[in-house]
Amino acid sequence: MDQTKYIRDLFVNEDDVLASIGSRLTSLGMPLISVPSEVGKWLTMMVRMTGAKKILEVGTLAGYSTICLVRGLNKDGHCTTIELKEEHAKLARYHFEEAGLQDCVTTLVGDASLQLAKLIQEEKKFDFIFLDADKVNYPTYLEQVIQLSLPGTVIVMDNLLLGGRVLDGEDQHPAPIAVRKVTKMLASHSHLESMLLPVGDGLGVAIVQ
Ligand SMILES: C[S@@+](CC[C@H](N)C(=O)[O-])C[C@H]1O[C@@H](n2cnc3c(N)ncnc32)[C@H](O)[C@@H]1O
Repeated sequence: MDQTKYIRDLFVNEDDVLASIGSRLTSLGMPLISVPSEVGKWLTMMVRMTGAKKILEVGTLAGYSTICLVRGLNKDGHCTTIELKEEHAKLARYHFEEAGLQDCVTTLVGDASLQLAKLIQEEKKFDFIFLDADKVNYPTYLEQVIQLSLPGTVIVMDNLLLGGRVLDGEDQHPAPIAVRKVTKMLASHSHLESMLLPVGDGLGVAIVQ
């Protein structure tokens, strides 16, 4: 038995809504790239541990991670999630209804950097931010979400190990280059205290100072 299966078997108990998302993505020909179930559980716990009330997510897909995040919120909490593709957003909204969470989530459809710029202009602030969209724009997204943060805001970024590709210096494709860059930003940014956790595909976690 591998390490991940061992952890999942002991600690993760997906309900029917979460368990159905993978097969629905497959049947619709959409990519099967939701966070793995153990990362989903960890997201729920992190939101609960921080007592966050306003969540911002970048990269919704079918809403798996959104549901996990919202399940960590108190009753009066809210999540804004940003998704480029209307067909992904539509499926996510269906899953939010199935989970009974439709009133706790606002789905913004459009390019994340434009949507984030609008939120910055509106002077919105969030206390928990999860980045899980196109990796090449991670450095831009990090700069933008810092502007949407307050002291104590937690920023979490998925895929910072990129299946090990970030460790291979000869891999000079745009995604690993951008992920290496954002990981250095995370590690050395004067307004962040950060760590890279070897959970799932590598979770960057930062607290805004
Ligand atoms: C890895 S998936 C998100 C998975 C989701 N967080 C989950 O775990 O259930 C990445 C998503 O980001 C979206 N995306 C890609 N580029 C984007 C952009 N420029 N702006 C907003 N969303 C984008 C994709 O359409 C895709 O649905």
